[in-house]
Amino acid sequence: MSKLFNPFNIGTLTVKNRFIHSATYESMLESDGMVNEVLLKRYRQLAKGDIGLIVPGHMYVHPTGKAGLKQTAIYNDSFISGLKKLVSAIHDEEGKVIFQLAHAGRQTRKEVTGLEPIAPFNNGVDPTFGIEPRAMTEEEIQEIIEAFGAAAGRAADAGADGVQIHAAHGYLGSQFLSPFFNQREDKWGGNNENRFRFVKEVFLAIKQNVPSDMPVLIKLNTNDFTPEPGIDPDLAAIYAKWLADLGIDGIELSSGTLSFSPLAMSRKQGIEGEFAPVDNYHLAAAEKIKPVIGNVPLLLVGGVRKLAQMSNIIEEGKADMISMCRPFIREPHLVKRFASGKTNEAGCVSCNNCLLAVRQGLSLKCYVKGVPES
Ligand SMILES: Cc1cc2nc3c(=O)[nH]c(=O)nc-3n(C[C@H](O)[C@H](O)[C@H](O)COP(=O)(O)O)c2cc1C
Repeated sequence: MSKLFNPFNIGTLTVKNRFIHSATYESMLESDGMVNEVLLKRYRQLAKGDIGLIVPGHMYVHPTGKAGLKQTAIYNDSFISGLKKLVSAIHDEEGKVIFQLAHAGRQTRKEVTGLEPIAPFNNGVDPTFGIEPRAMTEEEIQEIIEAFGAAAGRAADAGADGVQIHAAHGYLGSQFLSPFFNQREDKWGGNNENRFRFVKEVFLAIKQNVPSDMPVLIKLNTNDFTPEPGIDPDLAAIYAKWLADLGIDGIELSSGTLSFSPLAMSRKQGIEGEFAPVDNYHLAAAEKIKPVIGNVPLLLVGGVRKLAQMSNIIEEGKADMISMCRPFIREPHLVKRFASGKTNEAGCVSCNNCLLAVRQGLSLKCYVKGVPES
């Protein structure tokens, strides 16, 4: 049997197979951000499907960083009891769970947060969100770094097996890393070392707040597809190497921003390209990044659909784990079906209707008819 179905270690965490549920905003809560029964039901079902590691939808670490009206919150201790239930729903089915910690930065609206959107830099009106973000003060930057650290402490208190810093898709972490979004001229911008400082400080703050053996991962953009140069695979490789040197426990590769390329994940050539599903669209970036990060596990996400390709990617050492989002919305039991030999390919057609729906405030579901029996 393929290595895909054998256990794998992320730092001290043993995952029962190489499959990951990539973070997926569910849009299933009330606006208070408290975990509810609908969310628990979703994660029980996914964990029953034998996914080794589950990353629920991004959780906001500070009130200014709320990205969606029905998003899970982790910005104060009142959320811990609900988050404990989320962890138990997954642990009870022998899955492992990592919380993705996030701040929206400029990719939100006052209607969502009740507050002025903030960002590393104000480079005008955001084409998707229609807001002009206010550049963060030094004090605000420190406050948000501390908020990431405190949120990680809450994740540990809730029993999560690890945390993942969200530094992809144009949210705050990736805004700081991007030469396009971050045009600051103080110690937080101006060159790569300075642009990296925010994510580095977030990592260090998290480390101070969690047990020393708790894995800390990151989701990193390899391409921003912004009008002026942002992150590209070469810059992502530099950041990935620095993260490896810092002691990161796993790097998941992604691309695109909601501001400038909201559906980049279905296009052949970034936002300008043909609109069509593409297989393994972060593989080329992975090939560039894998050699510079030593033994740090690389998690491949993005259009990974065919079992034979997944096996080859793992066997050839191009990535260490296979991460999927949209396929599990259609088929929560996909891993079980793969293992039983009932299918060799995910049924997801990458139509993105799931994404469009949650962005309109609807609850997450697959809009394609005929979900395979599980
Ligand atoms: C409905 C939806 C919600 C998503 N929410 C998140 C999220 O909360 N955090 C994140 O890092 N990525 C999020 N993503 C991106 C996915 O995790 C993943 O990187 C992307 O969909 C590509 O993987 P796939 O081809 O397997 O779907 C979301 C994607 C979709 C479709």
